[in-house]
Amino acid sequence: MGEKLQLQIMRCLVLALLVNAAIQSSAAQLAVGFYANTCPNAESIITETVTQKFNQAPTSAPATLRLFFHDCMVEGCDASVIIASTPGNTAEKDAPDNLSLAGDGFDTVIRAKEAVEAKCPGIVSCADVLALATRDLVALVGGPKYPVQTGRRDGRISVASAVKLPHANNSVDQLVAIFAQKGLNQTDVVTLSGAHTIGFSHCSQFSNRIFGFSSNNGVDPTMNPGFAKSLQLACPQNVDPSVVVNFDVTTPTKFDNAYYKNLRAGEGVLTSDEVLFTDGRTKGLVTLYAKKSGTFSNAFVAAITKMGSIGVKVGNDGEIRQDCSKVN
Ligand code: HEM
Ligand SMILES: *[C@@H]1O[C@H](CO)[C@@H](O)[C@H](O)[C@H]1NC(C)=O
Ligand SMILES: *[C@@H]1O[C@H](CO)[C@@H](O)[C@H](O)[C@H]1NC(C)=O
Ligand SMILES: *[C@@H]1O[C@H](CO)[C@@H](O)[C@H](O)[C@H]1NC(C)=O
Repeated sequence: MGEKLQLQIMRCLVLALLVNAAIQSSAAQLAVGFYANTCPNAESIITETVTQKFNQAPTSAPATLRLFFHDCMVEGCDASVIIASTPGNTAEKDAPDNLSLAGDGFDTVIRAKEAVEAKCPGIVSCADVLALATRDLVALVGGPKYPVQTGRRDGRISVASAVKLPHANNSVDQLVAIFAQKGLNQTDVVTLSGAHTIGFSHCSQFSNRIFGFSSNNGVDPTMNPGFAKSLQLACPQNVDPSVVVNFDVTTPTKFDNAYYKNLRAGEGVLTSDEVLFTDGRTKGLVTLYAKKSGTFSNAFVAAITKMGSIGVKVGNDGEIRQDCSKVN
């Protein structure tokens, strides 16, 4: 009798624990419409501000998309990349590896956050503003418009020495290894690299492919010779280090699948771009995306959603930063 009662009590306890765990874990996850009750206009305020910024400076689109990537790769998607250095700390954004992140990405987030903060102070994280602004900008340049999961909280740590990002000269093995550390796989490498369908690269990032390459008269043999000529003209040796070229020679400001068509034509700008086509493991996917823009589009939404969940802080972790450039 007593034992039966004890067993029942135990069962109830286990059940209660399970239910509690389920509630806690579901509360501790990202969700589309996270601010529906606490700041119902958050997404529309961000869209409006971001559209204004885009109209003034269209380069805000590539700048912000790249900023989101760099944020997620270091300490998770927690807006740590936006924190400014202080006298005692060199922040992520000032690491040599920040690879010259363009100022318009930072400005986009700071402006959108200020607009949201004016309506709902202390509610919406800088990390979510960055994720939502990226979504809006991708749509503004002709890419897919997708629902964004929100509920990220902002990090309080940003150190330059933690910045380890892929490099322009990386092989597929190196890219896959760096992405794998963040839970992204080979498919994600190929799909997310499609972001290079917009934006710019400084000449220094590929000059080793057009001058002084070990074979083929100094030019990377995987590069289309005509394309190599045009890059040599745009980026002569000793060029001003601020000079940039478009990543996508065909539709430089449009978010489409032209990046993959370019790779097939030997018109990838970086080594890390062209290797996706020359390496047999990734060639098939490049070809598929080049032929089927809808397949790329859907895959990009899935991959950037996955990227946007890397190491996120939720629940009581982190904070809601007031000013995106410094911790509270
Ligand atoms: C696969 C590994 C990757 C490598 C090696 C890489 C490398 C680079 C390099 C070297 C630049 C040029 C920087 C400069 O000269 O200023 C660049 C720009 C850019 N990257 Fe990547 N990237 C990678 C993946 C990604 C991903 C996953 C995204 C976003 C989802 C992304 C988005 C961008 C954008 C949009 C630009 C243009 C930025 C601008 O015009 O301001 N990249 N990337
Ligand atoms: C990137 O880091 C370099 C130092 O390595 C710094 O001079 C530059 O201002 C940084 N860029 C941005 C946008 O913070
Ligand atoms: C690749 O690029 C990184 C960063 O610019 C540099 O430190 C490294 O020496 C380069 N490696 C090769 C093989 O060119
Ligand atoms: C990569 O991950 C996605 C899910 O995020 C999965 O659909 C895909 O099959 C994986 N690809 C590889 C090559 O493991």
